[in-house]
Amino acid sequence: MDRLDKNKLPRHIAIIMDGNGRWAEKRLLNRIRGHQEGANTVREIVKTCRELGIEVLTLYAFSVENWDRPPIEVNALMSLLRRYLLRELDEMFDNDIRLTAIGDIENLPKGVSTVLIDAMKKTKTCKGMILNLALSYGGRNDILRAVRRIINDYELKKIKSEDITTDVFSNYLSTAGIPDPDLLIRTSGEYRVSNFLLWQIAYTEIYITETLWPDFKKRDLIEAIIEFQTRERRFGLTGEQIGDRDKNRA
Ligand code: FPP
Repeated sequence: MDRLDKNKLPRHIAIIMDGNGRWAEKRLLNRIRGHQEGANTVREIVKTCRELGIEVLTLYAFSVENWDRPPIEVNALMSLLRRYLLRELDEMFDNDIRLTAIGDIENLPKGVSTVLIDAMKKTKTCKGMILNLALSYGGRNDILRAVRRIINDYELKKIKSEDITTDVFSNYLSTAGIPDPDLLIRTSGEYRVSNFLLWQIAYTEIYITETLWPDFKKRDLIEAIIEFQTRERRFGLTGEQIGDRDKNRA
């Protein structure tokens, strides 16, 4: 913890929470037990991010591809999500955490979407941190949806072709208004992006750990942030240019 520089924290951390199934299988347990343990980790990581002063935490809780898992697992994940939202709502509100969601929310079962929309409404004025859940989310769908909305605005003559800059495009995505992630964490040692925030991670630092999501604790998150703080973020510039830029800012 002493190695952590509180003045150089990532503003936005995004996490691909992977390895719940393997965690359970290693213990000869049902995969669903792994997801339940994963939900406990979610609690701990949200709390830690809030304590550290992270502005946005985006969690990949359910991808568009996850609908193709066995129905029993999909149902278990949906009821886990519902229970999590019901149980955590008061604590989120008390800790000034605003809940938001990205993805095809309309495709979630009614029991989940109702609770989700209610929690988003109740925490709308919270300012301490944004907890952004990616649910039925796919990065390609996010981009396609933005393209369709731009075409629609173009046809309504609300936007001209030359107005479509990268910043304007970003504001048509589901993450409009949220800074791009500074740090993307993936647990369980897979070196993939899995259709997560494809546009938004253009300059994000990626941290991959072998630790399975249910075992990923506060100290693991801090280790990831410490590692992030050692990276030189160049955004396509040279190391020398970055040094000069930082000197000029100081
Ligand atoms: C990946 O593990 C994880 C998921 C598909 C779901 C993530 C869900 C949770 C952490 C719990 C519920 C979420 C909230 C926000 C309360 P996997 O099943 O792909 O693991 P494997 O690769 O080892 O099989």
